[in-house]
Amino acid sequence: MAKPLIIANWKVNPVSAAAARGLFGRIGRGLARARGVEVAVAPPFPYLPLLRPGRKVKLAAQDVFWEERGAYTGEVSAPMLRDLGVSYVIIGHSERRRIFGEGDEAINRKVRAVLKAGLVPVVAIGEEALESNEVVPQELARQLSQALLGIASPKLAGAVVAYEPVWAISTRPGSRPDTPDNATRRALYIRKLIMKMLPRRTADTIRVIYGGSVNAKNGAQFISRDIRGMEGLLVGGASLNPKEFVEIVRSVSRAARRTR
Ligand code: PGA
Repeated sequence: MAKPLIIANWKVNPVSAAAARGLFGRIGRGLARARGVEVAVAPPFPYLPLLRPGRKVKLAAQDVFWEERGAYTGEVSAPMLRDLGVSYVIIGHSERRRIFGEGDEAINRKVRAVLKAGLVPVVAIGEEALESNEVVPQELARQLSQALLGIASPKLAGAVVAYEPVWAISTRPGSRPDTPDNATRRALYIRKLIMKMLPRRTADTIRVIYGGSVNAKNGAQFISRDIRGMEGLLVGGASLNPKEFVEIVRSVSRAARRTR
């Protein structure tokens, strides 16, 4: 079974390079002895070349553009990210969808670009509102099938799907974390979708991870190893506190070892 994957999504934080280096360094030192987990930090683009990925902490990007080069002011391409040592690229985060109007087609192009560059896409999907419970499965199915549309299945081996219910993201007013039970149900549903879309051989290699108000207290509860539920976490706010983030990773690492 693949190791749980924990990604720190710093969003637009911290506001200085020195603080970013400090934060990354503290996370790295805190995780020197963590076993059985994979960890990546997704800082803002300008900090990527300042942070040295290692065996314990890899680099992720928060977004990418689909063309490799050319007249696209302000964008950053997948080969550029690869050149800086990035391993994972988050695509279709709900903040990209909502604030920047990113749609299914753009997300699909980004997934293709990331795969072409040999990086691992972390495709973020999730429903907007808590009360729309009956439409949630449809919404997730649409987001996922559109993101992967027309992509030859072997290329998707090792890809990651991040389930983030938008209403659970900590910066949203009135947010609260999903329950571990519900998250597990969603993971099983998403896994079913993946099995329908892709041949078994590829589907088995895809990890589904959870994001939304994850902290040191609840993090490990979302990971279920006995059945293939959530196999990792996408952590926003709590990843800016190195002690808390390290504790999240350690608790997942302990839980993963117990159930192996
Ligand atoms: P949160 O953010 O952990 O602060 O809720 C998660 C995310 O938006 O990726």
